[in-house]
Amino acid sequence: MIQIDSVKWADAQAALKHIRREVFVVEQQVPEEDEWDDQDATAEHFLAVDTSSGQALGTARFLPSGKVTRMAVLQPHRSQKIGSQLLAAVLRHAARAGFQQVYLDAQISAIGFYEKFGFIREGEVFWDAGIEHVRMTKDEPGIFDDR
Ligand SMILES: CC(C)(COP(=O)(O)OP(=O)(O)OC[C@H]1O[C@@H](n2cnc3c(N)ncnc32)[C@H](O)[C@@H]1OP(=O)(O)O)[C@@H](O)C(=O)NCCC(=O)NCCS
Repeated sequence: MIQIDSVKWADAQAALKHIRREVFVVEQQVPEEDEWDDQDATAEHFLAVDTSSGQALGTARFLPSGKVTRMAVLQPHRSQKIGSQLLAAVLRHAARAGFQQVYLDAQISAIGFYEKFGFIREGEVFWDAGIEHVRMTKDEPGIFDDR
């Protein structure tokens, strides 16, 4: 079973860093200096943990501006709804915190994933860390289809 924990950087940075390094730096070749920023210390982080092994398998980060960032699931564990459980947890958190709208910069390859949760594309495609992205927004973050 997968459990989604809301964690602080200071308490869980080893697990958060491991997943983000594997997915973004190693797999997607994002430069190490682009991956880490000063927002980690103050952001709300989410960790997907396999309760039987105790292994952390995925991350997401929510910024005080209402932005969802750093969605990542370790490659061997994708397509098992772990990313969906993480995003659902972030959206519920945003709704509880009173956000009327949340947004993110989606990698082009992940647009379909976010559309399932009701995110809508806005604006032109742009490059960030060598990867094509597009801004997506979602109103009423507490309302989504998480089947
Ligand atoms: C994007 C990511 C987090 C999704 O995590 P996941 O655990 O594999 O996703 P889920 O299993 O919850 O998938 C949910 C649904 O979205 C779909 N989906 C998943 N990734 C998708 C993608 N890249 N494009 C389109 N659809 C996608 C799945 O097919 C599934 O559809 P279904 O409900 O019809 O079966 C994961 O693929 C990942 O870590 N990718 C590498 C890092 C990355 O690109 N992050 C996004 C940065 S913007």
